[in-house]
Amino acid sequence: MLPCPTGPRLLPLLPLLALAGAVNLTGLCESEMNAVKDLLQVSCEGKGLSSVPQGLPPDTGLLLLASNCLARVSMASFQHLKNLTELDLSNNSLVALQTGAPLPCLQQLALSHNALERLPALEGLPGLVRLALGHNALSQLPEGAFRGLATLQELELQGNRLRRLPPGAFQGLAKLKDLDLSDNLLEELPGKLLAGLAGLEILRLERNQLRALPRGFFPRDLILIYAYLEGNPWLCDCQLEYLRDWIVENELSIYTRQPGETKEITENDPESVRCQAPPKEKGGPVMLFQ
Ligand SMILES: *[C@@H]1O[C@H](CO)[C@@H](O)[C@H](O)[C@H]1NC(C)=O
Ligand SMILES: *[C@@H]1O[C@H](CO)[C@@H](O)[C@H](O)[C@H]1NC(C)=O
Repeated sequence: MLPCPTGPRLLPLLPLLALAGAVNLTGLCESEMNAVKDLLQVSCEGKGLSSVPQGLPPDTGLLLLASNCLARVSMASFQHLKNLTELDLSNNSLVALQTGAPLPCLQQLALSHNALERLPALEGLPGLVRLALGHNALSQLPEGAFRGLATLQELELQGNRLRRLPPGAFQGLAKLKDLDLSDNLLEELPGKLLAGLAGLEILRLERNQLRALPRGFFPRDLILIYAYLEGNPWLCDCQLEYLRDWIVENELSIYTRQPGETKEITENDPESVRCQAPPKEKGGPVMLFQ
């Protein structure tokens, strides 16, 4: 892996990279057929790139640009790649992503581990299925932020700085299956947050600052397969009876997850959701408080 150029090293490195990008890709990016996905995969990971290389093969299907030094990227740089299905821009130093240029085939967009403070306008991505925005610096989401993404199934927002959400944050995501809001700073959630998310199967809310959930938060017809709720400072008073009863009713859907040696370990554990207050309930499972 090439580190990002810093300080005085920036100057001598830049012309070299520009040249490599403009002239050819040999030695910079590797391209091969991805047999599983039956698409041309072009890998330019960890090359210290500070701009999108030019001369990418026009039939690129998967483009891996993770772990470079890209700070500002325009989707227009990929517009000529008509078969582009997956784009990985994770672990760069992205502060801005300019969208608008249509990428009709794009299904997966990975923007995790960057420095985005604002959600980019999500335009021109009518076929997006997975959007990964984990571990950025997002502190708010606008109402209807994802409205243009009618086919989205997986939305990763974990590890940001979200404290509150507008009631219509996830409006229009009728196909959404997996919503990850873990490891944020969420203190409360709007009562209608999940309204319209008829296909939701997995909801991850662990390690936030939630003390309660509004009555009716889980729509009656919603059947979650996995709900992650641990690591919040639940306040076990009469307001939390709603969550207690929901947990009792949905005991088999309450899970915890931990990093394992090779992959994450997920376990059914309804008692993992614990009271933080009042003192007499502290540490006890939410599902059992009186
Ligand atoms: C992120 O990118 C840096 C280079 O910019 C690299 O050293 C580091 O290993 C990458 N981290 C991951 C998790 O890939
Ligand atoms: C790119 O897309 C075109 C049109 O859909 C298709 O004919 C072609 O085979 C694709 N190329 C690759 C490498 O997938």
